[in-house]
Amino acid sequence: MAIAQPVRRYHPVIVVLHWLIAALIVLMLLGGYFVIAPMPEDAPQKLDVLEIHMALGMAILGLMVIRLILRAVTARPPAEITGGPLDRVAVAVHGGFYLLVALMAVFGMWTAIGLHLNDIVFARNGAPLPPDLRHAPTVVAHGWAALVLALLIVLHVAGALYHRMVLRDEVMARMGFGARR
Ligand code: HEM
Ligand code: HEM
Repeated sequence: MAIAQPVRRYHPVIVVLHWLIAALIVLMLLGGYFVIAPMPEDAPQKLDVLEIHMALGMAILGLMVIRLILRAVTARPPAEITGGPLDRVAVAVHGGFYLLVALMAVFGMWTAIGLHLNDIVFARNGAPLPPDLRHAPTVVAHGWAALVLALLIVLHVAGALYHRMVLRDEVMARMGFGARR
């Protein structure tokens, strides 16, 4: 049921999900670039690391879907904040997050299905990882999508800090807890 009246903050479950997903995505990006990418496919720990990465990636997708549904059915603060063009940039970046997380999961799952990673990583069927995993087109696309996602995060955090430190308005509090009206 949609509620029409304006509120000052997002629904508390959305707030919890926002910060949980934010932490998980930052961890996944750091883990992807600095742990998974440099690790050779035949390294003994690679299956364990990929197992965590793939499971967490799917969990993030699930949390993002729950959040999108909750976002549609709960009251949220108005998108217009400053009335300037940056409002539209913020809305585009927020939409970009939903799109990019979906793309990350699609390319990740595509890789997993196409290269039988579920059997190798989760079922541990004893087969080795493909030696050229990192050059598979879907992994390359996954890496590019990760780069765009990281750039969106930089823009998004810069925007949040700009509101907090330059405009000194209440935008940060919209993604926090407290009275909603
Ligand atoms: C880590 C530092 C982060 C900070 C300081 C931060 C801060 C904020 C703030 C203050 C808002 C409210 C903006 C508004 O009301 O217009 C917001 C909204 C949002 N944030 Fe973040 N955020 C962070 C990370 C992330 C990450 C990693 C994601 C990726 C999923 C994300 C996705 C979103 C989305 C999609 C919205 C819009 C809410 C909606 O309408 O669904 N944020 N964030
Ligand atoms: C939001 C979710 C995700 C993020 C942020 C993320 C991030 C990353 C990053 C940064 C890399 C390194 C890319 C590079 O080599 O340039 C990577 C690699 C990879 N990811 Fe993800 N990922 C996510 C979800 C998934 C999912 C759902 C799967 C599979 C079901 C998956 C499977 C893989 C695989 C197979 C690799 C390649 C490993 C290798 O190069 O040896 N990822 N991921």
